[in-house]
Amino acid sequence: MCGIVGYVGYRKAVPVLLHGLQRLEYRGYDSAGLAVLDEKSKKIIVEKQVGKIKDLQEYIWGKEINGNIGIAHTRWATHGPPSIENAHPHTSKSEAFAVVHNGIIENYAKLKDELIKKGYQFKSQTDTEVIAHLLEEYYEKDLLTTVLKVAKMIEGAYAIGVISTVEPDKIVALRKGSPLVVGIGEGENFIASDIPAILEYTKTFIALDDEEIAVITKDKVEVYDINGNKVEKKPFTVKWDLAAAEKGGFKHFMLKEIYEQPKTITDTISGFFSDLNNPVYNEIKNIQNIVIIACGTSYHAGLVGKFWIEKFVKIPTIVDYASEFRYRDFPVNEKTLIIAISQSGETADTRFSAIDARKKSAKVLSIVNVVGSSLSRESDFVIYTYCGPEIGVAATKTFTAQLITLLLFSLKAGLERGNLTQEEFEKYYNDIIHLPHLVNEVLKQDKAIEEISYKYHNVKDFLFLGRGLNYPIALEGALKLKEISYIHAEGYPAGEMKHGPIALIDENLPVVCIVPKDSLYEKMISNIQEVKARKGIVISVSDSQDSHLLSLSDNIIKIPSVENENLYPIVSVIPLQLLTYHIATILGKDVDQPRNLAKTVTVE
Ligand code: AGP
Repeated sequence: MCGIVGYVGYRKAVPVLLHGLQRLEYRGYDSAGLAVLDEKSKKIIVEKQVGKIKDLQEYIWGKEINGNIGIAHTRWATHGPPSIENAHPHTSKSEAFAVVHNGIIENYAKLKDELIKKGYQFKSQTDTEVIAHLLEEYYEKDLLTTVLKVAKMIEGAYAIGVISTVEPDKIVALRKGSPLVVGIGEGENFIASDIPAILEYTKTFIALDDEEIAVITKDKVEVYDINGNKVEKKPFTVKWDLAAAEKGGFKHFMLKEIYEQPKTITDTISGFFSDLNNPVYNEIKNIQNIVIIACGTSYHAGLVGKFWIEKFVKIPTIVDYASEFRYRDFPVNEKTLIIAISQSGETADTRFSAIDARKKSAKVLSIVNVVGSSLSRESDFVIYTYCGPEIGVAATKTFTAQLITLLLFSLKAGLERGNLTQEEFEKYYNDIIHLPHLVNEVLKQDKAIEEISYKYHNVKDFLFLGRGLNYPIALEGALKLKEISYIHAEGYPAGEMKHGPIALIDENLPVVCIVPKDSLYEKMISNIQEVKARKGIVISVSDSQDSHLLSLSDNIIKIPSVENENLYPIVSVIPLQLLTYHIATILGKDVDQPRNLAKTVTVE
């Protein structure tokens, strides 16, 4: 989705803005631009390009743009196709105001008509351009008052950055629904959609809340509410450094993040144990039903989590796509716990579902990776997954972190509700701490997995099958393959295959079967037999040495055996991440920034 960077300080703005945009590339975009207040001409200079940041960089290479204040943007098209005209920043009629915007202005058509009647001409098809013209139309006393006035006129979800020639020393930033942080430096300050954009300059941030407006000069940051009252904000410091957001010798962020998992799993486990006094464990004693809401990969984590919660916490649990849950009348009350899972903590559907449920008196626990993200601040309780920034669009390390968090949460909540003894809890914990080692063992299969990928990268379809705890892992394998290789893939509970998808099976269809030696092993074997009987190509992911499975499988990806079958999903997803990564790279796809996708989906 769109990304915003802004700078005011003692440095030249252009390089800071371009670096910031590069760090936001992972969010997904189709065009980019920047606006800088030129110190000589005192005018706002705007440069934009369709394509990558390097295209913008090459385009402005050698141009004299000297200014210490500016805003920049990566655009992910919503209103109007990717083009130079539609790229941000957008300027007002006299070019005194420049605006970057992330989100959607829902009433822009009406505002546009009114502005056209007043003589304004529009250069783009975007909803954003209305903001620039509104600022010019209503500018009277000062920029803050004007932005407050315009904020009351626009509807929708947005993060906005404004610079102007009328008050050339400041950026005014405004947020409602889309993420925006202010970075605090010395003699310089920043705005950004995301922390990594400005992490090389500062580690101190203020997260703006909805309907807050920041007025930022090089020496001062002041925050106001929508009515113009000053708000005291507490800055927070991030612990991770820039290296965490760089490739570190790996060809892609996705591969780096897959390989980081032994470490991130350790971090997630220690993070969890540093938060055992989380008030949610007291609240869980009053809870009668649980609803897990999430999107994409986080939804798959939720599906696995449901098994653990029902087993250990013994509370009836449903899992729903946030985009569906939001629009149905699911009855919730103060004894309902909503578990909202989101890596970014900014996914619009997940956030708004949680907000709505909270209004109906449900309690919300969010499981989030990004500290200070919107969802974490909008929840009653939060558990962080502590696995550092994930840059690849395809979620990998954050998925295993979500799984571990859900498992540990279920165990701890089960303990609090008296379903587990302390001894049992510790026994599970002792199994869990072996996970980094087990994941390392799976990573050693990388070469073998790459060879299998070479065999099947040219097929048109894939099927992924699993049962029980591993059925959501089949869904996750299929999602991963679709999103980064653009190969059609379906994930199914293996027992459901004979009710339809079995019709797809022929000698050209690879079927990835997750078949650990768990309590459903024999059932999986029966399903694999059904695939083989129809000449399907079987790729088994298993720890079994059983000759029957070997004879049924065209390929075997080995995973280590685990003491406790609850750990299999975490171990068996790793080969699927590697398999899909290799297939996509063999096909020459851009795995870190797959087409049409965005890392953080801030639109509904
Ligand atoms: C995962 O590979 C996807 N990029 C996507 O499905 C993602 O999990 C989904 O958009 C939810 O994101 P969130 O966890 O940040 O809420």
